[in-house]
Amino acid sequence: MLVLGIESSCDETAAAVVADGKRILSNVVASQIPIHEKFGGVVPELASREHLRKIVPVVDEACRQAGVGFGEIEGIAVTEGPGLIGSLLVGLVYGKALALCLHKPLVGINHLEGHIHAVLLHNAMEKQADDQVASAGFPNVTLVVSGGHTILYRVEMAADPAAPLFSYHRLGQTRDDAAGEAFDKVAKLLALGYPGGPIIDRLARHGNPQGFDLGRIRMKGNPLDFSFSGLKTAVLYRVRGTPLASEAEERKAWRKSLRGQPTSDEIRAQCSPTTLNLVASFQEAVVRDLIQRTVAAATEAKVGTVFVSGGVACNSLLRERFSQAAQEHNFKVFFPSLALSTDNAAMIAAAGYYKLMAGQFADLSLTAHASFPLGDSRG
Ligand code: KG4
Ligand code: ZN
Repeated sequence: MLVLGIESSCDETAAAVVADGKRILSNVVASQIPIHEKFGGVVPELASREHLRKIVPVVDEACRQAGVGFGEIEGIAVTEGPGLIGSLLVGLVYGKALALCLHKPLVGINHLEGHIHAVLLHNAMEKQADDQVASAGFPNVTLVVSGGHTILYRVEMAADPAAPLFSYHRLGQTRDDAAGEAFDKVAKLLALGYPGGPIIDRLARHGNPQGFDLGRIRMKGNPLDFSFSGLKTAVLYRVRGTPLASEAEERKAWRKSLRGQPTSDEIRAQCSPTTLNLVASFQEAVVRDLIQRTVAAATEAKVGTVFVSGGVACNSLLRERFSQAAQEHNFKVFFPSLALSTDNAAMIAAAGYYKLMAGQFADLSLTAHASFPLGDSRG
């Protein structure tokens, strides 16, 4: 079954064609980074205007790269939430219009479910096997960690292999900032560029992760919840009123004087060893916390498999430390490829395939939801 996926929940206009939820025929992503970069974060109004400009050419390009015409598409899967409402509506309305004109079934997909399916899709692409769902390991604990979300799920798959259906149980989530948001805000504070995650990932390799003691993240209540705003404030206190603040101001002026994007080596040349140590210590604290709570969740849920997905799953230290933790605590850990970790439409098409198989069609009343929790939560 050929499924067209459409994703526009934040600042990426994306479309993909995926066969049988397993084989990516095309995966086109139009990034808006150059538009939002100067603001150090996504500007919702600019994002939706850009989606409007990009949605038609991006969907056309996905079909062209897949070598399929609209007539050959057998189902349309579109992100219905959570996300920026103006952005979501662009992809959603275009998906509905296509479904109506082409007389094809439509399914609405939760963006978070898409991130979880990115792991299955990646495993299927790697193995080129039909049994990817069963072999990936269920039930499992999945950490979705991105710019908008940091959530731990227990994921189960219903036994029917012909039409597997998934259920999601929220074990914990961030009470304030998402981990990716913290990366982006710290990078903004230090004038390192946008998005902050990939830049900090590269710079941190040149700093001492023990250079600053930023403390441990402690909270009362659910031990599987997250909180990153305190860590972000701890970084702020190490910068405010110190030479690091004037260094950041100088970097800001330097960045403004440039025409194009600086390379990470050029940014590093503008950073003192102390800044690099701070960045490395911040990343260390985030990674340590994400792993510690995920391992606790896997132990509590008694599962032998962990999935990690979302933009922050690209982080090289996180991948390295998760592999070590998996050996130490005896579980298997799976990540999507880097391209499938960040926002994309192949993951939406893959999740859509199972819904289409199960006949969970949407009608034209399908609408966008800024807030759209996936699954039930712990009592
Ligand atoms: O999944 P995604 O593309 O969009 C959301 O659903 O939010 O994630 C984007 C987030 C940004 O906050 C970005 O800074 C972060 O993922 N990110 C990273 C890395 N690559 C992207 N964070 C840490 N290390 C990375 N290598
Ligand atoms: Zn996302």
